[in-house]
Amino acid sequence: MNNHAWGFQRKTDARHRTLLKKGSEDSMPPSASNSRFVCSSCGYQSLRWYGRCPECGEWNTLEEQPTVTKPRGAKRAGRRQTPVVLSAVALENVKRFSSGLPEFDRTLGGGFVPGSLLLLGGEPGIGKSTLLLSVADNVTSSIGRSLYISGEESLGQVKIRADRLGIESQGLYFASERNMDAILGMCLEIKPGLLVVDSIQTCEDPSVDSLPGSPAQIRSCAIRFQEYAKSENVTVILVGHTVKTGDLAGPRLLEHLVDTVLYFEGELSHLYRIVRARKNRFGATDEVSVFRMGEKGLVEIRNPSEFFLSERIADRSGCCVSVCVQGNKPILVEVQALVTPCLYGTPRRVAGEIDYQKLLLTAAVMSKYLVSGLDKMDVFVKIAGGAKVNEPGIDLACGVAMVSSYYDIPVRHNVACFGEIGLSGEVRMVPRMEDRVREASRLGFERVLVPHGFTDSSSSPITIGVSTVEEGVRNALIKSK
Ligand code: TYD
Ligand code: MG
Repeated sequence: MNNHAWGFQRKTDARHRTLLKKGSEDSMPPSASNSRFVCSSCGYQSLRWYGRCPECGEWNTLEEQPTVTKPRGAKRAGRRQTPVVLSAVALENVKRFSSGLPEFDRTLGGGFVPGSLLLLGGEPGIGKSTLLLSVADNVTSSIGRSLYISGEESLGQVKIRADRLGIESQGLYFASERNMDAILGMCLEIKPGLLVVDSIQTCEDPSVDSLPGSPAQIRSCAIRFQEYAKSENVTVILVGHTVKTGDLAGPRLLEHLVDTVLYFEGELSHLYRIVRARKNRFGATDEVSVFRMGEKGLVEIRNPSEFFLSERIADRSGCCVSVCVQGNKPILVEVQALVTPCLYGTPRRVAGEIDYQKLLLTAAVMSKYLVSGLDKMDVFVKIAGGAKVNEPGIDLACGVAMVSSYYDIPVRHNVACFGEIGLSGEVRMVPRMEDRVREASRLGFERVLVPHGFTDSSSSPITIGVSTVEEGVRNALIKSK
């Protein structure tokens, strides 16, 4: 291992030696007899190469990897554990620390857990480095030191961003490094409470015989970071770039390896960004925090409903407010539909930010029960502001917006609605209905159209139960059709 720039002397502590040398002991160079082929998309393993993965059907994803052979007798050498009764297991009181951003803390399940390994994915340019630089700076007040490793940008580039964000903390250390041994060496020297690795695709384990960013490299580096996080009780955040389809560029296995998977969502051209917890061993999944990219980095949006409705225009047909739930948070969004005459042979259905199948289904139901001419029209549906919503609660608003646009009759300004639409035109119940009504009421909505079944248990004076799409439309539009 090379000593790094500031002359770090390797510790002789046995535990540290294991961390630093681990990779080189375990791995063997690939050869025809002791290698296998692993799919970088799904992890399928085979002794022979295929052009197309037999498991997931992806092309050119099988890569050769060395087989790790254990020394003889290794199986027997492991220490036998004695099973214990679950009720006798004492829970350790985990002391979390804050990221300095209340909404982001909520997404994490109440702050960072020491010793956990997190993955933050997202497209290039979405704001991963910006967010983590602020977080690494914020945490120094509570945990003392944090270390930010950038394998993509030079120290000068990181400094320009840090100045822009107004970072002056004395406890935040930077290094521009790619070599795994050097990175872990620095960690053992600096002893940070938080380590940010930007990005895992640039890390290189010298003991693995493939290029940085390859599945073998990513996996090996991630395993070494995991061992470091657990043995030193340090929170480690790995940044991972995603490919166009939204998947992480590298093996999916990385998602299984880490404790928490966070993804940045949103279009680069839009103002806001959403960080969503797709997996969380220490909190609820699907929790989100909403940010706005400003002049001085990412700013948390505490009231996303107000943000998404801020540009709403009164008395416009084709717009209907719905309450969707993201994680534990009810958020009001405006569903917009545009129904226009079909100029070409086949009517078009265009879905922005909502599921295409949902659009087809809702349009078909509305066409059968309310507007028979809808099947001959072009239908466009999107969520204003670009929020991605994929939950059944917005079905009713989609249907109402389509009918509103078709007849050019606006939806009442003080009406919001939610409910799933069934194939026979019924409005069905969805989770967290009370929270949705409360959020709509908080933002001043005076009538909330809800699935009829909910009104039995709800005492809210603003709810109006609807059992069919016809009832929903009748109650929502300014004058009924
Ligand atoms: P970055 O955080 O580098 O994205 P990633 O690490 O995900 O690739 O940068 C995100 C974009 O945000 C970049 O195009 C510049 C812009 N930006 C701002 O608008 N305001 C700021 O204060 C900063 C630091 C960046
Ligand atoms: Mg970056």
